[in-house]
Amino acid sequence: MNLPQVFESYKEYIVPSYSKTPFVFVKGKGSYLWDIRGKKYLDFFPGWGVGSVGHCHPKVMTAVRDQLKKLIFVPNNYYTIAQAKLARELNFWAGFACKVFFCNSGAEANEAAIKLSRKFGQGRYEIITFENAFHGRTLATIAATGQKKYQQGFEPMPEGFKSVPFNDIDTVKKAFTDKTVAVMLELVQGEGGINVADKGFVTQLRKFCDERKLLMIIDEVQTGIGRTGKMFAWQHYGVVPDIFTVAKALGGGFPIGVMLSRSEIADCLGPGMHASTFGGGAVISRAALAVLQSIQKEKLLGNTQKMGAYLFERLHQLASRCTRIKEVRGMGLMWGIELTQEGKAIVEECSKQGLLINCTHDTVLRLMPALNVSKKQIDNALKILENALRG
Ligand SMILES: Cc1ncc(COP(=O)(O)O)c(C=O)c1O
Repeated sequence: MNLPQVFESYKEYIVPSYSKTPFVFVKGKGSYLWDIRGKKYLDFFPGWGVGSVGHCHPKVMTAVRDQLKKLIFVPNNYYTIAQAKLARELNFWAGFACKVFFCNSGAEANEAAIKLSRKFGQGRYEIITFENAFHGRTLATIAATGQKKYQQGFEPMPEGFKSVPFNDIDTVKKAFTDKTVAVMLELVQGEGGINVADKGFVTQLRKFCDERKLLMIIDEVQTGIGRTGKMFAWQHYGVVPDIFTVAKALGGGFPIGVMLSRSEIADCLGPGMHASTFGGGAVISRAALAVLQSIQKEKLLGNTQKMGAYLFERLHQLASRCTRIKEVRGMGLMWGIELTQEGKAIVEECSKQGLLINCTHDTVLRLMPALNVSKKQIDNALKILENALRG
C-alpha cells in the first residue's frame, strides 16, 4: 500500500473518531520511531502512556515469541501459568494482599472497579469523582470523567457519579450521602492537564474514606508501572487504596487492563458476576511479566527518578527563558508545560523537527518519555522544544 492508499482507506473504512496526524509509522525501537519515508522521530509520548520500556523492547519480544510457540490463548474458565505468575508479581509490587481482575484496557479496568464497588456497597452506589479527571470512554467511565466534553451527545449518563473540585476535601465531604460507596481519583490527572494531587488532600481523603467506610479507588492507568518514579503513584503518598487500576504501560504495547482490590473486597465478585473473554490471555500476560522484569532488572524506577529530576530542571530553565511558558508541573517522567497559548502549533512544529509530544487540555504540552530515556535524548528533545517555542 502506498501513502495515498493508506489515507484513502482510513477515510473510507475507519470510524473517524480520532483526530489524526498524517504520519504512517513502520518501525520502532526504544525511544525512536521511523515513518514510511524512513524519517526518524524521538518519541516523547510513546503510545499515549503505553511505552514504559520503549518500542519493541527485546525482553517483551522474546517472551511473546516464546509464548506464541506454545499456546496463544485459552479462556478464563481454565488456568494458565503466565496469568498466575503475573497476578503474583503485581501483588508483590502492590505490597499488600490484593486480588487481580484481568481485562483489556483502562476503561474496562475502571468499569470493573465501579462494578465491584457497587457490589460491595449493597445498595450504596454513588461514587465521588473529580473535575478534570479522565477514566475512559465507556458510558460509566465517561460519567465518572468529570469533563462535560466527553459526555455531550451521549446522554443520558449512567447515574451515581458526583464530580467535585480536585484537591478540595470540603467539597468531598459535602458531596457525601448515605448512598456514597467510593471516591475515585487519579493522583496525577493526565488528560486533565497534569494536575498533581496534594499530599495533604490525599491523606485527608484516606482518613475520610476510613471514617465513612468508603472505598478509595485510584486510577493508575496513566501513572502506574513506574511512570512517576515508583511502581504506583499512590506509593508516594503514604496511603494504600482499596482498589486501583492499571493498564497502558503494563503490556509494553500489548493491550491489557488490570483491577487490583484488597482481597476481602475482591471476594464480593463470585463466579459469573464479572468477566472478560480475552482478559489476561497467555501472550499478553507474558508481555506484561517481561515489562515488570525489565523495570526491575534495568533499574528503571531509579532511572525515572533521575531522568525525571533532570527533565524538570531543564524544563524549569526553559520556562525562565520563555515567556510562553506559564507553569511546569508533574512527577517522575510525566510532565505538563502549561502555555499562555494553545499548544497544537507547537506540537506540530516539534513533529516537523523530529520530536513527538502531545498537547492536552488545549494549552498543556505533555511529555511522557519511555522510562529508559537517556540524558542525551532529553537534551535533544529540549533543543527541539525550545526551537519550536521560539518560532
Ligand atoms: C487515567 C486514565 N484512565 C483511564 C483511561 C482509559 O484507558 P483506555 O484508553 O485503555 O481505555 C485513560 C486513557 O488515557 C487514562 O489516562
